[in-house]
Amino acid sequence: MKIIGTGSAHPKCSVTNEMLEKFLETTDEWITERTGIKERLVISSEKLEDMAVIAANKALEDANLTVADIDYIICSNVVNEYVTPALSCIIQGKLGATCPTLDINAACAGFIFALDMADDKLKCKKARNILIVCAEEPSRMVSWQNRSTCVLFGDGVGAAVVTDGDELKAMRLTTSSLTDVLYYQRKLEPTPYIDKEENFEPLVMKGREVFKHAVTNSCRDIRKVLAEANVKAEDVKYFVLHQANKRIIDSIRNFLGVDEERVPHNVERYGNISSAALPALLDELNRGGKLQKGDKLVFSAFGAGFTTGACVIEWAK
Ligand code: UT7
Repeated sequence: MKIIGTGSAHPKCSVTNEMLEKFLETTDEWITERTGIKERLVISSEKLEDMAVIAANKALEDANLTVADIDYIICSNVVNEYVTPALSCIIQGKLGATCPTLDINAACAGFIFALDMADDKLKCKKARNILIVCAEEPSRMVSWQNRSTCVLFGDGVGAAVVTDGDELKAMRLTTSSLTDVLYYQRKLEPTPYIDKEENFEPLVMKGREVFKHAVTNSCRDIRKVLAEANVKAEDVKYFVLHQANKRIIDSIRNFLGVDEERVPHNVERYGNISSAALPALLDELNRGGKLQKGDKLVFSAFGAGFTTGACVIEWAK
């Protein structure tokens, strides 16, 4: 597998820490110190699927392909307005594609799970060009009265086009069922037969536990994929990590002993945009002219589940 195009799209409404101070018992100082986040972009008038189409078209253009060249679409998403049909079906129609599509939910690690799935499809020759779209609106899962969660998230889309190649050097995915540290239950319709107790609430998160799992698992995954690919940390151009919290990013960087320039971040501008964070950051690097053919990149992400994913790729463009 190799990545041949990237794209991203973000909503226009910026919510700064100062704006949050007006309706939450919080301060810019607390949010900046604990998370590094200064503002987050959240959906207002936009529809997630329209943003997804913008990001997908950018990725196709970057790959020098048209929608007719795509023969599979994988959409990574945790929530959107539709339970059914799948978001990928909606995106397919709006893009004008005719290929099969599938939604996956591996939470914030979704991009890496999608890359792994795409790699399998390419190896089996079941597809030639695959579009991955990570479209997320976590701002709709949190209570905006809860200062512990709503300050952390933003919305956005990251997309990538992948095709046959030898540029994926190592891949590691993990799932460890740990469902009480981070979850969000959706309210379902009542029926005349439901007699169990149901208490639905906005996103629940044990922040400190998630923090620890994130750092421990990411460090372990990165070490393992580097060893598997036989690549030294000093030979990696960029460590492209999930953008949840600048302190998490810094902790992983410190444990790995990597200098700051090689661990790019944009969480300060977008907040945590779940699985869209990694491909959106990759798109920034790509469009910013920061990547050269042959560069070795490490991706690592973690999310609710608990899920983790990491891989080593060589930049192919
Ligand atoms: O994609 C995965 C998504 N999740 C994550 O990545 C989250 C990972 N965890 C974190 O990023 C951090 O744990 C947080 C940023 C969520 C919290 O930072 P912390 O340093 O672990 O703080 P804490 O949870 O231990 O809370 C410290 C205090 C608490 O007050 P008390 O109980 O000590 O009186 C909180 O109520 O900070 C309080 N607090 C706030 N204060 C001001 C929590 N949120 C805020 C806030 N403003 N927004």
